[in-house]
Amino acid sequence: MKAMIIEKYGKTPLLLADRPMPTVGDYEVLAEIHVASINPLDSKIRDGTIKLLIKYEMPLILGNDFSGVVVKAGKKVTRFKVGDEIYGRPRKQSIGTFAEYISVHENDIALKPKNLSFEEAAAIPLVGLTAYQAFHDILQLQKGQKILIQAGAGGVGTFAIQLAKLMGATVATTTSEAGMDLVKSVGADEVINYKTEKFEDLLENYDAVFDTLGGDILERSFKIVKKGGQIISLSGLPNARFAKADGLGLLKTMLFSAASHKLTKLEKKHHVQYTFMFVKASGEQLSTITNYIESGEIKPIIDRIFPMDGVEEAMKYSETGRAKGEIILKIR
Ligand SMILES: NC(=O)c1ccc[n+]([C@@H]2O[C@H](COP(=O)([O-])OP(=O)(O)OC[C@H]3O[C@@H](n4cnc5c(N)ncnc54)[C@H](OP(=O)(O)O)[C@@H]3O)[C@@H](O)[C@H]2O)c1
Repeated sequence: MKAMIIEKYGKTPLLLADRPMPTVGDYEVLAEIHVASINPLDSKIRDGTIKLLIKYEMPLILGNDFSGVVVKAGKKVTRFKVGDEIYGRPRKQSIGTFAEYISVHENDIALKPKNLSFEEAAAIPLVGLTAYQAFHDILQLQKGQKILIQAGAGGVGTFAIQLAKLMGATVATTTSEAGMDLVKSVGADEVINYKTEKFEDLLENYDAVFDTLGGDILERSFKIVKKGGQIISLSGLPNARFAKADGLGLLKTMLFSAASHKLTKLEKKHHVQYTFMFVKASGEQLSTITNYIESGEIKPIIDRIFPMDGVEEAMKYSETGRAKGEIILKIR
């Protein structure tokens, strides 16, 4: 089968390669991939910047989510059959959706929302699960709570705003002028133009911040959260709590503890809990998201669609950091 691979970590172009068809485990389905999405995570994996979180053997097929059709089911698969239209984010050890086929555990997939095309469906799994796990599993976001979602116009942001609104929260978000209309259209209550305004001058007493940007923006976020509130980051430094929960071992726990020292000090100073998260595969949670989409409560936001041989251009576009919604890669 055709696949886009890397042979080593670094800022090297992806290579179009012929790879053997994946074998299908007892609990796996073989999916014919129709569409994948491009996420900043793909560049981070290619560059090797998250090697401490997950290290891959080479050569590696890139790609973290997909939509497609089941063409074979493993002996013990109970929830899917040949011909089912599905979508999913394979578990982090088993990525590789920039390819014609993938073997994926049945627990990592869900039926594709009936009202979405394959292109629209592929825009959902990674960003949808990320927001779902942040708001349901970690924050347990409650009706009436106030949350700041950083970078509301991006792939994660446009989904996160819709989910937070669905859960009854009041949502503030940051964007440049270019994303203003988009973030309003998906439901943001308060929109801050980060080029001309500082969110910490305008917001206070927030229950939570969902940070997608890390660095200085993450550190400034502590100023607006009330005592007992929470900050979740996708791009900040992992801390010792994350390393322990993820079973990363003593050495990495000590390393992350030292690296995130400043964030730990900010947690204590502001009485705010900081959580770094890394999205997990979950077909069950994706099924819940399917329901939200089929009932019209959440819709996919797509920026651009690239053909498979445009993967390099698509990755470069993603790396500009300017995408409005998701970037889509058509595999077939
Ligand atoms: N840890 C995890 O499990 C996990 C999961 C998913 C994603 N992530 C990470 O989360 C980050 C966001 O992902 P994404 O898919 O949403 O990225 P994305 O789609 O590439 O985000 C692009 C958007 O970010 C906005 N933006 C850039 N700088 C900004 C700033 N200073 N303030 C406000 N908005 C800003 C841009 O708006 P303007 O053009 O208006 O500037 C653009 O619309 C990435 O770093 C990704 O790797 C991590």
